[in-house]
Amino acid sequence: MNYNIALLRGDGIGPEIVDSAVEVLKKIGEKYNHTFEFKAYLAGGCAIDATGEPLPQETIDGCKASDSVLLGAVGGPKWDTLPGHLRPERALLGMRSALGLFTNLRPAKLYPALKDACPLKAETVAKGFDFVMIRELTGGIYFGERGRRQGPGGEEAFDTECYSVAEVERIARVAFETALKRGKKVISIDKANVLESSRLWREVVHRVAMEYPEVECTDMLVDNAAMQLVKNPAQFDVVVTSNMFGDILSDESSQITGSIGMLASASLGEGTVGMYEPIHGSAPDIAGKGIANPIATILSAAMMLRYSFNLEQEAVCIERAVDAVLNKGLRTADIAGNSDVKSLSTKEMTEAILKEI
Ligand code: IPM
Ligand code: MG
Repeated sequence: MNYNIALLRGDGIGPEIVDSAVEVLKKIGEKYNHTFEFKAYLAGGCAIDATGEPLPQETIDGCKASDSVLLGAVGGPKWDTLPGHLRPERALLGMRSALGLFTNLRPAKLYPALKDACPLKAETVAKGFDFVMIRELTGGIYFGERGRRQGPGGEEAFDTECYSVAEVERIARVAFETALKRGKKVISIDKANVLESSRLWREVVHRVAMEYPEVECTDMLVDNAAMQLVKNPAQFDVVVTSNMFGDILSDESSQITGSIGMLASASLGEGTVGMYEPIHGSAPDIAGKGIANPIATILSAAMMLRYSFNLEQEAVCIERAVDAVLNKGLRTADIAGNSDVKSLSTKEMTEAILKEI
């Protein structure tokens, strides 16, 4: 088959790690007889520099016309002082809403080979953990009404958390469908003891749960969830939550794996076009040094094969290759820990993975 992939290399280490993932996809193409065609578009700081805006219309049109989108990372200190609507991060929010990517899948698992990098006590993670956080991505406070106004005490600012029944229903369905293919356990996270939007969220999740009697569904308040993630991460299988809670908790869950340079993500909508990107940022401090860990982006490409192209075998092939290099003790600097093995460069790590494919 022939697949068109839009590349948003972005800023900082973005271009280096996207190029690694492209190498891996090309190798998969050779091995399994697929043609991947790549077309690069500007997004983030590089787009601001070239066109004055973080997400040019040409990029949106190009991504919509492609079969899927692979993104590196956007942002950097150079653009930090721009006003909100011109910041590089707008490119991410704009892409999510332009492509209707309401589902964000963020898997977090403890790689046995990297367990020493986990900041939690060994006994806390003795059983390991492997869960997927499903974050609603196009609603809630990120997209609600906002503004500034004069209040009784002077200037005020407000952002609004609003969820419709339909929005909660569709993300809840994704969670239950995902759970069916995994451990059949959904934990829905909200703040229903305080927020009306959370009370609606909870009602709707329970209603959808009735359609999935084989899946166990429980609620957890977000403050408790923040605690449970570091107390007993093995209890989680599928977590579903709102845009903002998911933003916060997915950083926490990536941290407990000890290897943010390893974590992939997928943003999906109704159709098959998705946007795939590593969870980490553009790491301006190491940009251009050739030492960034390409694994998160390579695993994001694997998620693309699975979710956008339905190429399960090919996705597993990449994931196995990554496992193999880790089990051999190969490390980039970010996951080397205190060991005295020599860290690989981005290129060397990419080569090592290509060899296993
Ligand atoms: C993320 C990021 C983004 C978000 C920012 C950069 C807009 O933190 O993808 O988690 O808040 O969604
Ligand atoms: Mg975030």
